[in-house]
Amino acid sequence: MTAQPTHEQLVTDRSLLSTKAYGTGQHLAARQSLYRWQTPSYDLPRIVIDELADVRGVVADVGCGNGKFVARVRDDRPDLSVLPMDVSHGIIDAIPGAVVADVQQLPIADGVLGAVLALHMLYHVEDQARAIRELRRVLAPGGIAIVSTNSRTDKRELEHLWRQAAGDGLGIAEGPARVQLSARFTLEDAPAILGAVFGEIRTIPLPGVIEVTDAEPVVAHLASYEAWADRMGVPFQETIECARERVTETIRTEGSFRVTCLGGMLVCR
Ligand SMILES: C[S@@+](CC[C@H](N)C(=O)[O-])C[C@H]1O[C@@H](n2cnc3c(N)ncnc32)[C@H](O)[C@@H]1O
Repeated sequence: MTAQPTHEQLVTDRSLLSTKAYGTGQHLAARQSLYRWQTPSYDLPRIVIDELADVRGVVADVGCGNGKFVARVRDDRPDLSVLPMDVSHGIIDAIPGAVVADVQQLPIADGVLGAVLALHMLYHVEDQARAIRELRRVLAPGGIAIVSTNSRTDKRELEHLWRQAAGDGLGIAEGPARVQLSARFTLEDAPAILGAVFGEIRTIPLPGVIEVTDAEPVVAHLASYEAWADRMGVPFQETIECARERVTETIRTEGSFRVTCLGGMLVCR
């Protein structure tokens, strides 16, 4: 019997990242779309654009994913040159000017960028200390790095729902925990990790509550973890169906299904 991979191995597995997880933008879009039901609602690209107010020259978006931030920065700041980068070739296919690159070894000269973005991506990186040194190395004097991630308490209700639904499928009280992506780089730990390299770190907390009256956005969010979930000894489709039933039942009896969120951005100098 082969040993199950650890959460750490799954979250940083390069072949999973560039194929099942982020081979296309489909799963990422499902996760992003759940925030449509969040109160208050945050315009994350707007927050980034505001932080870039004094920045000139070139901005790299490392781990740019489906290019949500790239497109908005290009629209709002046509004076900036935006360089999209990601380890997954598939997800950047349609983004003009995007290149395949690893944050642990950026193909960028020292001290040339006005800013670098590393949004919801450092938790996927094996050697975070090296990646953060790279973010610092490529910045020009006065340049900024904008990093984002989630709290260790983020979307707890979905962790609970997953364990219950997996348990339903397996015929036990609670199944195994799902992979929590941000656990390797939480909002709580990020200032100390980034502080090893950057002198000043300002955290912008983004708390909110998602409330849905239809199970599908929650089910789509859970399903977007397929790349990791089906490596963990849980019958994936069955778990998703059990989760759908549980969310539908909560909506029927309580009127809605609520998920508490805590994400945040860290502006580093
Ligand atoms: C959760 S998505 C975030 C996408 C985008 N930054 C956003 O916030 O919408 C994480 C992205 O980081 C990429 N990624 C993972 N490890 C990476 C690495 N070592 N270097 C560059 N990109 C990486 C993944 O392929 C994926 O597209």
